[in-house]
Amino acid sequence: MASSYSDVYDAWKQDPESFWARAAEDIDWLRWPERGFDPDRGVYGHWFTGGETNTCFNCLDRQVASGRADQPALIYDSPVTGTVEHWTYGAILEEVVALAAVYRDLGVEKGDRIIIYMPMIPQAAFAMLAAARIGAVHSVVFGGFAANELATRISDSAAKLIVSASCGIEGGRAIAYKPLLDAAIDISAHKPDRCLVYQRKELQAELNPDRDIDFASAVGEAKRSGNDVACTPVLATDPLYILYTSGTTGQPKGVVRDNGGHMVALRWSMQYFFGLKPGEVFWAASDIGWVVGHSYIVYGPLLNGSTSVLYEGKPVGTPDAGAYWRVIERHGVTRLFTAPTAFRAIRKEDPQGELIRRHDISSLQALFLAGERADPDTVAWAEAKLRVPVIDNWWQTETGWPVAGNPIGLGLLPVKYGSAAVPLPGYHVQILDDAGHSVSVGTLGNVVIKLPLPPGCLSTFWNADERFRENCLSEFPGYYRTADAGYIDDDGYIFIMSRTDDIINVAGHRLSTGSMEEICASHTDVAECAVIGVADAIKGQIPAGFLVINANVSRETAEIEREVVALVRERLGPVAAFKTAICVKRLPKTRSGKILRGTMQKIADSESWKMPATIDDPAVLEEISAALKSRGYCIIP
Ligand code: COA
Ligand code: AMP
Repeated sequence: MASSYSDVYDAWKQDPESFWARAAEDIDWLRWPERGFDPDRGVYGHWFTGGETNTCFNCLDRQVASGRADQPALIYDSPVTGTVEHWTYGAILEEVVALAAVYRDLGVEKGDRIIIYMPMIPQAAFAMLAAARIGAVHSVVFGGFAANELATRISDSAAKLIVSASCGIEGGRAIAYKPLLDAAIDISAHKPDRCLVYQRKELQAELNPDRDIDFASAVGEAKRSGNDVACTPVLATDPLYILYTSGTTGQPKGVVRDNGGHMVALRWSMQYFFGLKPGEVFWAASDIGWVVGHSYIVYGPLLNGSTSVLYEGKPVGTPDAGAYWRVIERHGVTRLFTAPTAFRAIRKEDPQGELIRRHDISSLQALFLAGERADPDTVAWAEAKLRVPVIDNWWQTETGWPVAGNPIGLGLLPVKYGSAAVPLPGYHVQILDDAGHSVSVGTLGNVVIKLPLPPGCLSTFWNADERFRENCLSEFPGYYRTADAGYIDDDGYIFIMSRTDDIINVAGHRLSTGSMEEICASHTDVAECAVIGVADAIKGQIPAGFLVINANVSRETAEIEREVVALVRERLGPVAAFKTAICVKRLPKTRSGKILRGTMQKIADSESWKMPATIDDPAVLEEISAALKSRGYCIIP
């Protein structure tokens, strides 16, 4: 099939408002928007102003009313507990209405915030949808973050309620959530009124009778009382959720997503980017704590009347590298979405793809990769082994849906390895130099998106319009700064190469080296430090910290290194995968005192590097090389 991409993209470019107004017809509105886009509202304008709707209604009530009550909406597949559950649209609606009644009885009102700190269980999705039903704003926090990070989010969002569970399961281990939750509430300046705790049989939590409520009993009671909770009308521009993501400092940024534009964009992307039909099975093997989980485990597939797989397990080790193929076969998955790191992990365990051949994966029509750069090697391996199109797509927590990708729903374009293909309608992507001038074709520069951003992208940072302006809009006036570096080729294909800030990508997880430095520096014996991302064959990058110890300290450096590693795990969480701290005498700096992190990274990655002209003392780089060599990093001088 010839691709209609160019025609569709041109149609958007000629008249963006009409384009999105047509897309908005695929959503049910209580009041049709007065304006497609109002440039005078919000930080850079707002989509669908005056419109009234409800996201939960569109995900559930509307699907049930149109005959999908008995169709599975969610398939919970959990190799770590040996469970498979099919949840129909009708059954989920019943759970969500009951949970919404619990929220309401606990005094949660439209606009109030609910923190959801849960593992990958269906109740996590219900908690999100029930919040949407009553117009409350949810903020899901990934389970791999430590109490301190959870506390930051409780406090910034001033959450009234927390929904949590007794434990998560990582590989074979049950990880108790309740001690982390209790510690977070202790640290947080703001205290929630109540916590609803879902007790899992693998590990039960002790509840605090003054604050904690048993999730299952409360929902059961609400069902018995039979109270219906109708969907609360919300404005298209009202917030649906806040999702905190790593910024350039230790303080995470609360990305705010609205209701109207979000639904319109996700529905459009399901149909025309992913090419997914209602009734088909979609699997985003991510976590609801990340944006991919929000958009493509929960909201996108349900808005589309499709079936979504919620998988509690890993690509390898639960129990083996054949887990993905088993899930595809068992549930008839048509499209799989995951991070390249997952495929690198599978390939390492099963390089010949022998486990793939043990399963019938003929239902699979495409593989989508995102979250980090899809390296050509991994793409080629996946293509050869799965024999389906492998589609790299580039986006961020801030955008909420792909900025660029090969739109299978409009007809595939030729694939170019290393490129996330073409910009999708809504996104006018350009490459600018540091002074804000357009660069020529093929030249690396700052990747920016011309304002306004399309529906579905963030409207602001929670309670921080000014920070949003400063962080994303001020450096290149008229554009959103993605903080990615890349180039566009002759055919308009986008190549995303690296970040322009301190963010590193560890196993598809976005982390700030700045926040790790803040933690390392808080150790009493550390005078100064630098954290860099070092290339890793499976995780893409892993952090490594260089520590300069205070002059008066006479303790073993190995002991200090171990303490710093433990400190990062305790404060940021295991997800940081911070396992390397190296004490050095000095850090390489420019004459004006800037730490040369870029050069350190090149040395660690054995890339060729030039002596920076502004370096204060070239001998320091040799010391860094020697320190890395002593830890087994292969250094090419
Ligand atoms: N709750 C508690 N701890 C968690 C956790 C959670 N939800 N998720 C991860 N962790 C812990 C892990 O147990 C591990 O702890 P450890 O240091 O004690 O071993 C640590 O955080 C690092 O986890 P992870 O980065 O997931 O490493 P891993 O070795 O367990 O698995 C991969 C590596 C590549 C298999 C895994 O990262 C993966 O599947 N990645 C896909 C990424 C993804 O879904 N990205 C989302 C964007 S699409
Ligand atoms: P997150 O907000 O966690 O989704 O991380 C977003 C960042 O991950 C982007 O700004 C990129 O740096 C990186 N990223 C995501 N997808 C891709 C991709 N397909 N290619 C290259 N980088 C990507």
